[in-house]
Amino acid sequence: EKGGYKHFMLKEIFEQPRAVRDTIAGRLREEQGDVYLEDLSLNDAALKGINRICIIACGTSWHAALVGKFLIEEHCRVPVEVDIASEFRYRNPVVDENTLVMLISQSGETADTLAAMRESKRRGGKCVAICNVVDSSIAREADGVIYTHAGPEIGVASTKAFVTQLIALYLFTIRLGRSREVMSLEEGRDLIAAVVRVPALMEEALKLNEQVEKVARNYLQARDFLYLGRGMNYPIALEGALKLKEISYIHAEGYAAGEMKHGPIALIDEHMPVVVLVPKGPNYDKVFSNMEEVIARGGRVIAVCSEGDQEVKDKVEVALEIPEDGCNVSPLILSIPMQLLAYHVAVLKGTDVDQPRNLAKSVTVE
Ligand code: M6R
Repeated sequence: EKGGYKHFMLKEIFEQPRAVRDTIAGRLREEQGDVYLEDLSLNDAALKGINRICIIACGTSWHAALVGKFLIEEHCRVPVEVDIASEFRYRNPVVDENTLVMLISQSGETADTLAAMRESKRRGGKCVAICNVVDSSIAREADGVIYTHAGPEIGVASTKAFVTQLIALYLFTIRLGRSREVMSLEEGRDLIAAVVRVPALMEEALKLNEQVEKVARNYLQARDFLYLGRGMNYPIALEGALKLKEISYIHAEGYAAGEMKHGPIALIDEHMPVVVLVPKGPNYDKVFSNMEEVIARGGRVIAVCSEGDQEVKDKVEVALEIPEDGCNVSPLILSIPMQLLAYHVAVLKGTDVDQPRNLAKSVTVE
């Protein structure tokens, strides 16, 4: 049932190009630069009436939400707030009829996310769920659903569900932007073209597997890791750190690279591995200089950069290269080396990768 892989997690990492293809299938309207979301239940008029979006989730799904904020604000110019479900539900949140509340949940059964949705509905918000399990509680009770088609995810550490959540957010962004007429036909088509390229770019990134396994061997003794990224790759730094801590039990923190000088830089010494997400793209120069600050303090940098980026490669201990034309879908492509690094470190340490201690696949109690 693990299809020849040693663990479900590794199988699910390698299934990601397929999972993304299945989540896109049948939904693209390439000519119109638009997307069809069969169960969204919000027509153009309803989408136009929204003046604010709250995205609510837990754990890895919350990281997807953070990428969603970036995409929606960038392309649709609607203000987006992102919240952790357990915070939102007890906070007296501002939600009204013009608020769209998006719930992201792989299982569709997470207690805090479900409660946050019920609270939002009570206040009149329209609720749309991004969900991987058909007919789960959250999917059933939401006004609309965007299903991800990752297939059953067995590993406790979320991998393929996460990347399909990201794809669902790209699709929703296109639909929202086109319906509100803030996104041109051309922009819609460009985004669709970027989404269509994702599976092939992921196949490329999966070729890093052997290199990442070798890298993992050199960092097993580390007690802490720092992960840095900016813009839409900042949530991927958070996700990389979460993957590592949940399966290898090594302490790890994800940080917005620009925030490092406000505290965590004090942690850096020659024992501290720092994973820096520095692909070519909008924040490249800024992240590059943050990386130099780390190197100047003796930090051991594992950079994830664009293929052939000699400037980065000349400076760092390890460079993991991802295909260059993935810049506007970088969160999806960068996720792969993050997952592989956590996986190999954990396997080499001998932990139970698919069933890490103290964790459940779906958290149905608060
Ligand atoms: O099923 P959900 O997406 O609602 O689950 C949310 C979190 O419990 C989940 O993402 C958790 O953080 C994973 N173990 C992360 O790998």
